[in-house]
Amino acid sequence: MDAASPRLVPKLDVSDLVASLRFYVGLVGFRVLFERTDERFAFLDLEGAHLMLQEAAGPGRRFRTAELERPYGRGINLQIQAGDVDLLDRRMRAAGVEVVVPLEDRSYVAGDEVIRLRQFVVADPDGCLQRLREPLGRHLRSRHVQPDPVGGGIMKDEVAPRVDFPRLASRQTMTRPKHDPTGWRTYLRAFHEERPGITEEILAASTSAGQNSYGWLLELIPQDANLLDLACGSAPLLRAGWRGRWVGADRSPAELDRAIANGGLSVIVADALGLPFDDHSFAAVACSMALMLLEPLDDCLAEVARVLVPGGTVALLLPGGPIPLTGGDLRRWGRLFVALRRTRFEYPNDRAVRQLDETMRRHGLEILTDDRRRFAYPVASRDAASRFVDSLYLPGVPTARAHAARRVANSWVGSEIGIPLRRVLLRAAG
Ligand SMILES: C[S@@+](CC[C@H](N)C(=O)[O-])C[C@H]1O[C@@H](n2cnc3c(N)ncnc32)[C@H](O)[C@@H]1O
Repeated sequence: MDAASPRLVPKLDVSDLVASLRFYVGLVGFRVLFERTDERFAFLDLEGAHLMLQEAAGPGRRFRTAELERPYGRGINLQIQAGDVDLLDRRMRAAGVEVVVPLEDRSYVAGDEVIRLRQFVVADPDGCLQRLREPLGRHLRSRHVQPDPVGGGIMKDEVAPRVDFPRLASRQTMTRPKHDPTGWRTYLRAFHEERPGITEEILAASTSAGQNSYGWLLELIPQDANLLDLACGSAPLLRAGWRGRWVGADRSPAELDRAIANGGLSVIVADALGLPFDDHSFAAVACSMALMLLEPLDDCLAEVARVLVPGGTVALLLPGGPIPLTGGDLRRWGRLFVALRRTRFEYPNDRAVRQLDETMRRHGLEILTDDRRRFAYPVASRDAASRFVDSLYLPGVPTARAHAARRVANSWVGSEIGIPLRRVLLRAAG
């Protein structure tokens, strides 16, 4: 623990550590500073707010003066300065979390000042109340202002010079200003909220010589490396057998929920543009099926290079282009593109990925190997056919076209479609 550690750190007994991590990490935005999985214990941080969680049933020592009953934490609520509360409120509601006090703006008297803040109160999975708040500003207190007799000294908002706090950095606003010239950010957010885990569903089922593409990618990563899984999605690399130290970062809370369910306890909601890690924190970075999406790519790669140790490893999985496909695959993809009225898939970083060597060199990353392989997705049922089409990024494609593509994919039932993938190994300058 460093010198800046708070002198008071709440420790909460929770009934299910995974469910609580899903809430505190996946939704509120804490990151796991460290954990002791054998004790079902995790130590969390959110920009200096610290919290300890331990599973009530143990193993290990637990302090009790009475039977634990839901709701836990009776009589207290934890006040957390958690960043952009509008965003958090939407996220909590989307996740079906119980909102106890809806979003509100309040003013509180604090000595000679009035502090304004936006807040809402939610119950964590065990019913313990969390007040998530964001400062809006403060001003000097007027002599004419009457403290509200109800709850916490609400003020009629008059008077005095105003000093605005800068808006606190949330996970999103820790990054640079949003950049969305093509609408991809909005599209991806909705896509992954609606279909978390769908990339893993399709790629984990697609094999080449008995291996799926995640296993193929893991071959590139030294087993003793501590690994940052960037844009980890549902954490398929864990299911594919990664057993070493692992941290997953992704922009989508819904994907991270899946990641936690897949056993990824160290996950953080973060944008690749502003990774919340110290320089030289990781021996390896994996980025599976996401590099073509990260915008602006050069800024994201600068972050990758920054958090990597000198000489560290980067392993990429990317869409592979037609080279490894069979004639039959090409015909099938051709019919799909006709249905979609497209000639190919397009991603924000197509140009940079075509010139990968040059792109990577700008960040001191050297390509060591670059392979392509065909993975066969078995289209066992109409549902599998539909899920395959659903897994494709199709921004701007009208619903009718997507239906037409599903009909094409239905005609493959009982057969397979080849998915072309590219695997790239890079080394950071030593
Ligand atoms: C195609 S999925 C891949 C997920 C997983 N790595 C896999 O291979 O199954 C792309 C992932 O990138 C994430 N993503 C896209 N842009 C991101 C960004 N700028 N920062 C962090 N995550 C991002 C999405 O939320 C999504 O989970």
